[in-house]
Amino acid sequence: MKVNINGIHLFVEEKGQGTPLILLHGFPLDHRMWRLQAEALSNGYRVITPDLRGMGQSDIPVTNIALDQYADDILALMDKMNIQKAALGGFSMGGYIAFALLRKAPERFLGLVLANTRPEADGQEARKNRMNMAVSLYDKGAAAARDAMLPKLITEQTKQEQPQLAGELSEIMGSMPPEGLIHASLAMAFRDDSVDLLASIAVPTLVIAGEQDPITPPDVMKKMADQIKGASYHVIPAASHLTPQEKPEAFNKLLLEFLQTVTA
Ligand code: MLT
Repeated sequence: MKVNINGIHLFVEEKGQGTPLILLHGFPLDHRMWRLQAEALSNGYRVITPDLRGMGQSDIPVTNIALDQYADDILALMDKMNIQKAALGGFSMGGYIAFALLRKAPERFLGLVLANTRPEADGQEARKNRMNMAVSLYDKGAAAARDAMLPKLITEQTKQEQPQLAGELSEIMGSMPPEGLIHASLAMAFRDDSVDLLASIAVPTLVIAGEQDPITPPDVMKKMADQIKGASYHVIPAASHLTPQEKPEAFNKLLLEFLQTVTA
């Protein structure tokens, strides 16, 4: 369904009933990356998977935006859907937005899942890469992000064993609106550093890494988990960056066990 918030239409899929669980996707993806989580959890939870502004079926920003805008959209969405409190999960870029949400409205969240993400802001080199990506997106369209990301999302072995997954990902990433991805690249490039936030996180937190993730490697994730009081940290073997889709059984098991403790 489409929800009118903050002057735009945001697409959101809602499945199941129970404690709300909001899952925020990564770049350059949309809510479909959470399909297997929504299916597995919707018999006990109200699983809410939005398309972030400018991605998937949500409206594209007409001016440049900061990363905080994505967080403001989620808070407005919660208000619109009458959700006072929810469990929150963020994958990669979705994790950056989860940090912004925890900064803005920590009282609205029951628990936090950080998958394949990092708290540090971009350094000089990473910023430059994002600006180059924005130019490539402008020149070549969504294929620029698809071609850069696909080899990093799943391992070569998974690609051989599950060619249909690689095909689906290629299709999803290639169909994103390039302008939306440009806005996302620049918003990520100039996002706040969230390292100082970690010590203040007071909700139960689950941190999930992929053993072979080249974007947010396990040592980066472990360092982050160590700074969040009581966080549990898990590495999924033989997985790259996109753990929810590459290893859904392992990911869902961790998620379900965690949610049972959060919402009991
Ligand atoms: C993502 O998966 O969302 C991206 O890898 C995030 C990033 O580029 O920092």
